[in-house]
Parts: sequence; C-alpha cells; structure tokens
Amino acid sequence: MTHDHILDPPAGGRTGGLSHLLDMQTLDRGSITEILDTARAFHELAARPIKKVPTLRGRTVCNLFFEDSTRTRVSFEIAAKRLSADVLNFSAKGSSVSKGESLKDTALTLQAMGVDAIVVRHHASGAPLQLTRWVDAKVLNAGDGGHQHPTQALLDLFTIREHFGRLDGLHVAVVGDVLHSRVARSLVQGLATMSAGVTLVGPPTLLPLAADRWDVDVTHDLDPVLGKVDVVYLLRVQRERMHEQFIPSIREYGRLWGMDRRRLGQLAEHAAIMHPGPMNRGIELTADVADAPNALITQQVANGVAVRMSCLYLMLGGETADRG
Ligand code: NCD
Repeated sequence: MTHDHILDPPAGGRTGGLSHLLDMQTLDRGSITEILDTARAFHELAARPIKKVPTLRGRTVCNLFFEDSTRTRVSFEIAAKRLSADVLNFSAKGSSVSKGESLKDTALTLQAMGVDAIVVRHHASGAPLQLTRWVDAKVLNAGDGGHQHPTQALLDLFTIREHFGRLDGLHVAVVGDVLHSRVARSLVQGLATMSAGVTLVGPPTLLPLAADRWDVDVTHDLDPVLGKVDVVYLLRVQRERMHEQFIPSIREYGRLWGMDRRRLGQLAEHAAIMHPGPMNRGIELTADVADAPNALITQQVANGVAVRMSCLYLMLGGETADRG
C-alpha cells in the first residue's frame, strides 16, 4: 500500500467533514469509516523506521488538560509531532479561577496566539462545545466529564476492526461502571453506528437509568454473557467520580464483575478482552487476564496514536491551501 496520500493535505481543500470532534453521535458511518481507513495508513507508517510525515508542518496543536491524563495527552502529543505540528502542552489543573471563566480566559489567550487545534480534557461535560463558541481553532474533545471521549471510542473501533476484520454484526459486552464512563457512552454510540451489538453488564447502581433508551441489552450477570460475545470491554471503576456508595466493596466488585482466569476460560476461543486504561489490576481484571494473548490492551494504546493522527489530519490537513 502506498502512503503518498497521507503525506499531503487532503485534496480539494476539504477537511474531511470534521470541523470539530466533540462526540460520537455526530459521526455517521461514512465519517467513522474515513477516520479508521486513514488511521490504517498512519498505523502502517508507524512500522517504518522514520515515522514522521511533514503534513502539518507550521500548524500548532495545543493540549489543554484540566484533568489528569497520561495516555491520552501523550498519545495526542506523539500524534501531532509525527505529523510535524508544533505542540504546546497546557496543563490547567490547579487553577484557582472559577471554572467557566478560567476556560474562557485560557481559550482567548490561545486564540490570540493563533493555535490551529485545541485538544481539550475537562471535568465539565460540554466544555469542548463551549470552547468552539470562543475560538476559531478546531476543537478535539479528549474527554469531558461523564459525557464523551470520542477518540477513545474511535481507537477502540479501530482495534476491534483490525482484530476481527469488521465491526458489522460483532457483539461487545461493556462491563462495569457505565454510569460514570464517558468511554462507554462514546463507544456504545460508535458500535451502534457501525452495526455492532452491545450488552451492558454491571451492578444496577452503575448502569445509567437512561440505558433503557439506548439500543443495547442490559444485564447484571456477567457469566451467562461470556460465551456469547466477541469482545469483553472492561471499564475502569471510577472511584474518583463516586461520591456515594455504589458498590458493596472493591473485592465484591471483582468477584462479580471482574475478569479472572476462570471467566477467561468461558469466552469463545476467538473472543478478545479490552480496557481503556488506566487498569486497576485485581479489580476489573486479574494480572494474568491483562497479559493474556487475547487481551488487546497494548494494541489499543498503540492504535490510539494512529487514530489521533488521522483525526488531526482530517481536521487540519485540508486547510493549508486556503491559508496560502
Ligand atoms: C479514560 C478516561 O479518562 O476517560 N481513560 C483514557 O482516556 N485512557 C478511561 C478512564 O479513566 O477510566
């Protein structure tokens, strides 16, 4: 396969239909497929000794993180650098200004400095959308509160598609703390758009009431589901978001909803295990499950770079001609 097309901006000055990347529900099947196909080309490029392409030379990408993150921030940074963009890391945690004002002030400052894209993680749902009203830069949501985390869903879709060769007709069990999970919200929407089936599994207290209106099956019992699914997607237990008692104890959670060696044996032979990270080994899954050959967790991390390159490329690449 030739990679020439990703060395240059997309043809015709178009931006791949991606103006901002805020959530998964606004991405249709065609847009998701375009992002995943483009990510595939970048993924192949990652296997080459020289991984960098000049596509976004002269562009500036700002990582604006109001919440802790390792893999998402680093992944966006590597993605932007491999596209030859300049990267600015702005960690806003600890600001004493009230949240709304602080975001607006920061946005206006970045705007004045002429950044082309802002990758934002914020504890408030809707903060990335709000940002689009203040700046001309393209906004990429890197996780907003309990709302959305679209690049995580896209890298998960990419990982599943690479592993099985398709998404259509697959069945994914999303297990655990769905209530607090922006990853689950984004992934479930993406899977539905790509015609994959979803079963949510978890304690009643950690499944959103609104799940009744999602196009998914819901159960509290993990064992009967295991033999029927292609992917078991384990969610991190988000203790930092739990302000009440949602589960009897961490030990009990592991016993009822954690993946261990016994449950691994109940999976279909072809089935895969996924987790968005950071993992709590011993809670959502035991160490031997995390390291099992059918665990795709490190592939997810590696694929994240290619998928974020694809998003940045489709959002920023097409504008070069317009700017002259
Ligand atoms: C997720 C997040 O921050 O939403 N992690 C990530 O981006 N890799 C999932 C989580 O923290 O549970």
